[in-house]
Amino acid sequence: MGMSGKLLDGDVAIITGAGRGIGAASARLFAEHGARVVVSDRDAEPTEATVESIKAAGGTAIAVPGDVTDPSFAKKIIGAAIDAYGQLNHLVNNAGYTWDGMLHKMSDEQWHAMIEVHNTAPFRLIREASPYMRDKGREEMGKGGPVANRSIVNVSSTSGLHGNTGQINYACAKMGIIGLTKTVAKEWGPFGVRCNAIAFGFIETRLTGSKEAGASMTVGDKEIALGIPEGIRDMAIMFNPMQRAGSPEEAAGGVFFLCSPLAAYVNGHCLEVTGGAGI
Ligand SMILES: NC(=O)c1ccc[n+]([C@@H]2O[C@H](COP(=O)([O-])OP(=O)(O)OC[C@H]3O[C@@H](n4cnc5c(N)ncnc54)[C@H](O)[C@@H]3O)[C@@H](O)[C@H]2O)c1
Repeated sequence: MGMSGKLLDGDVAIITGAGRGIGAASARLFAEHGARVVVSDRDAEPTEATVESIKAAGGTAIAVPGDVTDPSFAKKIIGAAIDAYGQLNHLVNNAGYTWDGMLHKMSDEQWHAMIEVHNTAPFRLIREASPYMRDKGREEMGKGGPVANRSIVNVSSTSGLHGNTGQINYACAKMGIIGLTKTVAKEWGPFGVRCNAIAFGFIETRLTGSKEAGASMTVGDKEIALGIPEGIRDMAIMFNPMQRAGSPEEAAGGVFFLCSPLAAYVNGHCLEVTGGAGI
């Protein structure tokens, strides 16, 4: 924390999938609390829009659009963060989507796409961040400190924690990211780099909008339908202890907490931001 008293003052954060929804709300919240944010999304226009909204509110951010599943993406975005700001404190692996289907009908392509975006991409990004997170922390510790606030947050889901009908690919990937998180927590914890997961329940975004509204995403040569059927949305709300979906801002609050110095001793944890769903 710097002179301003803002919790992330002086920190640099990369947030993927920050053109919409939870990632965009997180980017704005991080900037509001003093972070310089590297905003990234596969869609360039919403990436720019998030950066513009941060700047309009007096914050600092740059746009680095790109697809996290592109093998050259990690080098590109970590390089851009270092070029612009000279350091990296936080990496939020938030980019993701769903490609639903019942197991007996699911293609290999569908399966691999979920592992690629939710597991392989975060793995590559964390590996690429190693010199600026792990090694920096190691160096600072070797000198007897102080050690900067550094952390990684990986976005998981209740679909992973509890399983979910029609999401065998997504559920596996979202549980896989917790294993990845706990391993990084053990490997990099000694150097002061914390790594946590955050599992969301039903947060109101494009991903969870009414299926009948017809949102979709193009992946390769496929048009993938996003959203949840209206009846299932109603049921999720009915069974939720808080009787409503969460907002992207409420989801961002959890991401922010995990990266803030308030979570300085929180490592290898999976924070559930669900309104109590599944308890
Ligand atoms: N909304 C929920 O209820 C909910 C619940 C659990 C987990 N999640 C997870 O939260 C994260 C954010 O989702 P959201 O609800 O804000 O959805 P969203 O669709 O509003 O935002 C996700 C963003 O990620 C981007 N993205 C998708 N694939 C990408 C790729 N390959 N490279 C770069 N960017 C990519 C999209 O363009 C989009 O802007 C996802 O990982 C999602 O699985 C969401």
